[in-house]
Amino acid sequence: MKVVVVKNYNEISFQAAQLITDQIINKKNSVLGLATGSTPIGVYQELIRKFQKGELDFSKVVTFNLDEYYGLSPEHPQSYHFFMWNILFKHINLKKENIHLLNGITENIAKECKQYEDLIQKSGGIDLQILGIGDNGHIGFNEPDISLDTRTHLVNLTAKTIRANSRFFNNAQEVPKQAITMGIGTIMQAKKIILLANGKRKARVVERTINGPITTKVPATVLQLHNDVTIIVDQEAAFQFASQQ
Ligand code: PGA
Repeated sequence: MKVVVVKNYNEISFQAAQLITDQIINKKNSVLGLATGSTPIGVYQELIRKFQKGELDFSKVVTFNLDEYYGLSPEHPQSYHFFMWNILFKHINLKKENIHLLNGITENIAKECKQYEDLIQKSGGIDLQILGIGDNGHIGFNEPDISLDTRTHLVNLTAKTIRANSRFFNNAQEVPKQAITMGIGTIMQAKKIILLANGKRKARVVERTINGPITTKVPATVLQLHNDVTIIVDQEAAFQFASQQ
C-alpha cells in the first residue's frame, strides 16, 4: 500500500483528481469505479473544474458506482443516483450510456447484481476504483463480518452506518436498512484503487486499515492484499498511523 499524507481535505481532493486525470489521459476509455459520501465531493469538484478548463474529456470514460440504497428510486434526493447526477455527472461530458449505477428499486435483486457484474466484466474491468471508508472500516457498503470474496449483493446496514448516514436524512428512521453494493471481491479486481479519508473521526480506522491484521471485522484491511492501492489521507486522519512511525 502506498500511503500519501497531505495537509488537508483540499489537498486530498487535488491529488486524487490528478491521479484520475492521469488515468484518463493515459487511457481515454478508462473504466472508473466511483464512490459517494462526503469524502469524494471535493475530488468531483476538482474534476469538474479540470473539465471546464478543457483539461479533461470524459466522452469515452465508463463509470460504475459502488453502491445504492435498496428501496430508493433514482429520483429520491438521498439516492446515490441523485447524488452522482447532481455532484458530478450533469457537469461533465460522460455519455449517459456509459454511466452505471445499481437500481435500488429492482424487483429482482439477484438479476440486478449479476447484470452489474457482467457489465463490469464486459467493459474490461475497473481500471481505477475510488473508495471512501466508513468509521467501521466498510468499503462500499461491505459492513464488518461480511465475507471477503463477495460479488455485488444485497446487504443489511449496521446500526452504526445507519446512524452515520442519518445526517443526510431527516432522521435515522428514514435511512434505508439495506443497500446493494459491489462486493469486496468485485472491488479487489479493480486494477488500481485509491482510498480517501479525512478528519480525526477516521484516524483509528485508517491506522487499522494500514497496519492492522487482515480481518472481516475491518473490511478495508483486505486492501493490504491488493498490489496497487494508494491511500490519500490528511494529517488528522493520519494521526494514529503517523504517530506509530
Ligand atoms: P463519508 O462516508 O465519505 O461520508 O465519510 C464514507 C463511507 O461511509 O464509505
